[in-house]
Amino acid sequence: MPTTLRKSPSKSASKARVAVKASKPGKVASGGAKPAKLMPGKPAARAARSAKAPKSSLAQPSSVSIARAATKSARAGLTPAPARPAVPATPITRWAPESAPRQTTVKPARAPVSVKPTTVHLKVPGDAARSSEIIIGPGTLVNAPDHLLAPRSAVLIVIDSNVPGAAIEPLIKRLGTAGVRWQASVITASEPAKSLATAERVLADAAAFNLTRHDAIIAIGGGVVTDLAGFVASIYARGISIISCPTTLLAMVDASVGGKTGVNISIGRGQHSELLKNMAGTFHQPRRVVCDPLVLGSLPARQFAAGLAECIKHGLIGAEGGDRKLLAWIGANLAEILKRSPEVLGELITRNVKFKATVVARDERETKADLGVKGGRGVTSRASLAGRMALNLGHTFAHSFETLDGLSWRNADGALQAGPLLHGEAVALGLRCAAELSVRTLGLSKSVAEQLEQMLTAAGLPTRVSGLPDDATLLRRLSHDKKATNRGPRFIGLAPDGSAKLMSTVTQSTMAVCVDSIREP
Ligand SMILES: NC(=O)c1ccc[n+]([C@@H]2O[C@H](COP(=O)([O-])OP(=O)(O)OC[C@H]3O[C@@H](n4cnc5c(N)ncnc54)[C@H](O)[C@@H]3O)[C@@H](O)[C@H]2O)c1
Repeated sequence: MPTTLRKSPSKSASKARVAVKASKPGKVASGGAKPAKLMPGKPAARAARSAKAPKSSLAQPSSVSIARAATKSARAGLTPAPARPAVPATPITRWAPESAPRQTTVKPARAPVSVKPTTVHLKVPGDAARSSEIIIGPGTLVNAPDHLLAPRSAVLIVIDSNVPGAAIEPLIKRLGTAGVRWQASVITASEPAKSLATAERVLADAAAFNLTRHDAIIAIGGGVVTDLAGFVASIYARGISIISCPTTLLAMVDASVGGKTGVNISIGRGQHSELLKNMAGTFHQPRRVVCDPLVLGSLPARQFAAGLAECIKHGLIGAEGGDRKLLAWIGANLAEILKRSPEVLGELITRNVKFKATVVARDERETKADLGVKGGRGVTSRASLAGRMALNLGHTFAHSFETLDGLSWRNADGALQAGPLLHGEAVALGLRCAAELSVRTLGLSKSVAEQLEQMLTAAGLPTRVSGLPDDATLLRRLSHDKKATNRGPRFIGLAPDGSAKLMSTVTQSTMAVCVDSIREP
């Protein structure tokens, strides 16, 4: 159930007090609850509980005081990391997976250093109004929320219940100081909650708060929240501005860049029900995206690894976004990435955002693949150039596993993990299948596929699972992919030169062999 936090109108902004009440579906809480202070280092949802709100289902994760860590390290006078050694020119092959230590416990982000934020501009050709400014750097959200203060009179903050309070308290204070009216809708993030029903509740919150089309939505959370809030922003009052503050690695490097929004649709009933991922959605570019690596300090290790799957995917097709060395860079820096060094994370996010922004700017609506347009070259009947669809490498397979129950796998330490899979974990398995497909049909070297598997494992991701349904069930699920045509599901393959190919005529037996490559007996 979403919870609504509301600014207490009588309190000064600098005191940043909120009145908190769990709302009924589709209804904005209208006061009556005792004001509570947002507590640094506590998840946003905890403010709700401490205000004696009615019991809600919000989860209570362990929290990390990012602000405290930040101050401590600033006092320690840390300096920027030394220049990195030259990155090997050949992707993957120079990377030694055994040199990358694994991280199994969650560590808070190290102190911020004086790294200047980087700004990446995603320009949609011919439509300046729909261009995005993506600001990346340690402290951009935690310490310097100025970036978020657009000249708005009101904002609806759609926030993930697991985001630590310390990450948002400065923003709330600044909004108050600037005289911006605000209200928060708290979402408990999950794939089933990424639904039309939740979107409707947020729309109702916006309407009850009298949000106008000149106001804005601020989304603070993982991909579930940024996708859902983006969807709401694209249809509320026929479209209002959204500012995204992604708080998971996956949302920073992928979900909040490029303007795709969406919710899942559930079909069937009971045992036969299926969640169709992002089946309802829009294109709506965020006005601004703020990526602060410090907020990743509280992210569980499994969620962090899930974000790395998308980075590795970007690395595999780095040539498409003008960064042929991305995969090798990830391999060379994996140890520091897993330690969550803010500077290295800043660079990881920046390189991935630049990559994705380049691909999206060339083909925002994913139409180039169908036309076969890229660099003036034509298409072959077997595999055409992919445009933005290149970003779907591994995703057709991934979507067919993502919502399956009953899966299990062993991580690199031998510990048993049980499903359901996170999106990034499904992507890791999907990348493995896509590599198999590419070896079989496009002539990709087997050694690339093997090294991909090693890199995914070192990053803490699954590459084989037990409990997959039979091939017939999986092929039926593949045919439900929303990018399928009447000729069947479409896949992205990886060519030996690093380019991505769109494949629409893959035979059922080849699909089955690819799926079997991740089957653990
Ligand atoms: N729009 C796009 O282009 C695009 C691209 C890729 C993925 N996606 C979508 O993104 C979603 C997956 O995103 P995700 O991996 O961020 O998952 P998520 O949003 O479910 O977040 C993962 C978990 O981390 C918690 N969390 C978020 N920030 C936290 C923080 N700082 N500290 C502690 N916990 C935190 C969340 O509450 C949740 O429990 C999927 O729905 C996928 O379809 C969209």
